[in-house]
Amino acid sequence: MNIDHILNKENFTKEDIIYLLSLKDENDLQKLAKKALEVKSKHVGRVVYYRGLVEFSNICAKNCYYCGIRRDNRNTNRYNVSDDEILEAAKYSYENGYGSLVLQSGELDSPYFIDRIDNLLREIKKLSNNELGITLSCGEQSKETYQRWFESGAHRYLLRIESSVESLYYRIHPRDKKHDFQTRIKALQDLKEVGYQTGTGVMIGLPFQKIEDLADDLLFFKNIDVDMIGMGPYIEHEDTPLYQFSHLLMPKEERFKLALRMIAVLRILMKDINIAAATALQAIDPIGREKALSVGANVIMPNITSNEYRGDYLLYENKPCIDENAEDCKSCLEARIHLAGDSIGYNEWGDSKHFKNRKR
Ligand code: 5AD
Ligand code: SF4
Ligand code: FES
Repeated sequence: MNIDHILNKENFTKEDIIYLLSLKDENDLQKLAKKALEVKSKHVGRVVYYRGLVEFSNICAKNCYYCGIRRDNRNTNRYNVSDDEILEAAKYSYENGYGSLVLQSGELDSPYFIDRIDNLLREIKKLSNNELGITLSCGEQSKETYQRWFESGAHRYLLRIESSVESLYYRIHPRDKKHDFQTRIKALQDLKEVGYQTGTGVMIGLPFQKIEDLADDLLFFKNIDVDMIGMGPYIEHEDTPLYQFSHLLMPKEERFKLALRMIAVLRILMKDINIAAATALQAIDPIGREKALSVGANVIMPNITSNEYRGDYLLYENKPCIDENAEDCKSCLEARIHLAGDSIGYNEWGDSKHFKNRKR
């Protein structure tokens, strides 16, 4: 196999992907990065779209083995941002030209929670003159709930599959009704059927994860034909069951580099989707998100959660921007993105081009 030959192919086989994900040679890596950036420039442009991220609650009914805010972690200070504060954050997003908002939380499915989101969606649409785009990231819900939220104004939804390899999925989740692999796949299908721009993603560098699992993940994304991907390195958290397998992990820098290769290969594989530069990248490398932009990512989710809560939404260790506020992140990111050679698509939804293309 030869890198130039693979990069010139119309479609990648699993073997091609494994080859690309395993690259070590600096020269080869540069070729991969260059190709990914070319594809990005040609198909989605060198524009970064913002989604102001509100992590509005860390209360979660699930128990994912990797996550710091899992239900059974007693060392987490649980919070729930008030509706007023969420609307305040939405207003911030709107007034600062972010174009879109992401509401993210732990997973709950009580009627109260469902009504609450529904109401927030309507209020946010109202306060922004119907202009702010809204993405939800609130876990697995029934198709009826997805439908209801869609009608109230959400038009994008993020639900990471975490790993598309079923055996690995069950090594990082309890094997029970609340964490059922098929249910998760079904949820992704429901989201697409309801009409959302649908996003998924995985963690990279998990214990027990092999390169070929990651190749399968990329092929899974292509196969279910999603519109958006967010994926980043797995980062251990001391208060979680998966922590006991930390000795199996590759060094953090390796996980980071592997994540960049995943993004680059994905950009070449799915040319017109939106790819987020995940915050977890910055937990390892101070300019991790900008590096992701230079290999194909085109979306950033600046944290606009109030300072007061940031330190309690700790899915993993070393999370960046905990002591910063929305204003800090705004000016910080703007400078970094320009340094990376991209511009910022202020006041635009920055919808997935893939979504429009597949609807044609
Ligand atoms: N390391 C990296 N990412 C994590 N997430 C949860 N826990 C971790 C961790 N320890 C990611 C999951 C989830 C998203 C909101 O955060 O992929 O979908
Ligand atoms: Fe809850 Fe999401 Fe964390 Fe799982 S990853 S425990 S669903 S917040
Ligand atoms: Fe938050 Fe730089 S992006 S401080």
